Amino acid sequence: MFADRVLSGMRPTGSLHLGHYHGVLKNWIKLQQQYECLFFVADWHALTTHYDTPEIIEQNAWDMVIDWLAAGVDPSQAILFIQSKVPAHAELYLLLSMMTPLGWLERVPTYKDQQEKLSEKDLSTYGFLGYPLLQSADILIYRANLVPVGEDQAPHVEFTREICRRFNHIYGKEPGFEEKAELAIKKLGSKKSKLYAELRTLYQEQGDDNALEEAKSLLNEQQNLSLGDRERLFGYLEGGGKMILIEPEALLTEASKMPGLDGQKMSKSYNNTISLREDPESIRKKIRTMPTDPARVRRSDPGDPAKCPVWQFHVVYSDTQTCDWVQSGCTTAAIGCLECKAPVIDAILAEQAPMIERIKKYEEDPTLVRNIIADGCEKANKLAEDTMRDIREAMGLNYS
Ligand code: TRP
Ligand code: SF4
Repeated sequence: MFADRVLSGMRPTGSLHLGHYHGVLKNWIKLQQQYECLFFVADWHALTTHYDTPEIIEQNAWDMVIDWLAAGVDPSQAILFIQSKVPAHAELYLLLSMMTPLGWLERVPTYKDQQEKLSEKDLSTYGFLGYPLLQSADILIYRANLVPVGEDQAPHVEFTREICRRFNHIYGKEPGFEEKAELAIKKLGSKKSKLYAELRTLYQEQGDDNALEEAKSLLNEQQNLSLGDRERLFGYLEGGGKMILIEPEALLTEASKMPGLDGQKMSKSYNNTISLREDPESIRKKIRTMPTDPARVRRSDPGDPAKCPVWQFHVVYSDTQTCDWVQSGCTTAAIGCLECKAPVIDAILAEQAPMIERIKKYEEDPTLVRNIIADGCEKANKLAEDTMRDIREAMGLNYS
């Protein structure tokens, strides 16, 4: 129950580009091999800022899933689903809202930032203010302990940790908690209960983190503990009450080195992207017409790769030998810019080839993607329900 679990979501805002691939998807593909992973289309999140253009959601959602699959996200390793098809996210969001201090939401740095950045939109809405809490529900409902995010989203994970602690503090206190916890310890058997008690003391009296970790893995190995006892014993380790929800950790994704065609960050709003499904001829054209060091007016003028966005592409795609060739060729005017761009074009096309291959299959038969998502939604619904049962009980709602 408390094994490592990764959760991440992406808003369906348009077709994905190389920035998404290098910045997010490559990381997901690595994670899916190491952990149980859940990846979802955050369509409700898209509506927090795009509530007035609902027509974009559906097409973008399917296109985005196809792009994930094309990039190598593997539905046999990760659970892929759509947020709005797992309505429990909304139920948890509602329940968490009862105990969320308004000030916590107002202080989330993205709130004011984004309002200012997207000033052409009216974002003084309840949904926009509450969106970090929706994200908390996304994470907490799966008891995911690892959340891969970029730096910009780290405050949302921190906010989620605070919500989680507050929830466990308020709702984890059952009558007779201590007695129940002590009884649960006995059920571990004499040797293990002694070890548990020792490790707990080490942690509580000396702050020994290793002891805490050891005690947690001891609990993880216990097959026949009831769910309630398990939560009690995890909660009892750190004090407080039951740990109904799990505090997640941000897995900070390194900022992508992938620049846009103009050297700025690759982003749809800058119109400097190469999409994952870009036509190869269009890729060639975009790279060939990319700006270079402005000092190279004539072929015979030497240049400086540091002032050239093409160089940034070499940093991402080229081996040392090619990079050396660019450095010396550019600064001595031994190579021309088109010559310099050729290996970049080849590398992008080579990276793209297997994606195009995979996409073909999904474009020919749209039921494939529908089935993958239906299967993922079913699995996600089951996992979410497991947590919701405990939450409803803790909040006094399990009556009929
Ligand atoms: N808010 C994220 C974004 O805009 C998307 C997201 C929604 C998410 N829920 C999440 C990411 C949960 C990680 C975990 O990019
Ligand atoms: Fe840029 Fe290459 Fe031209 Fe130098 S030779 S300016 S690095 S494209």
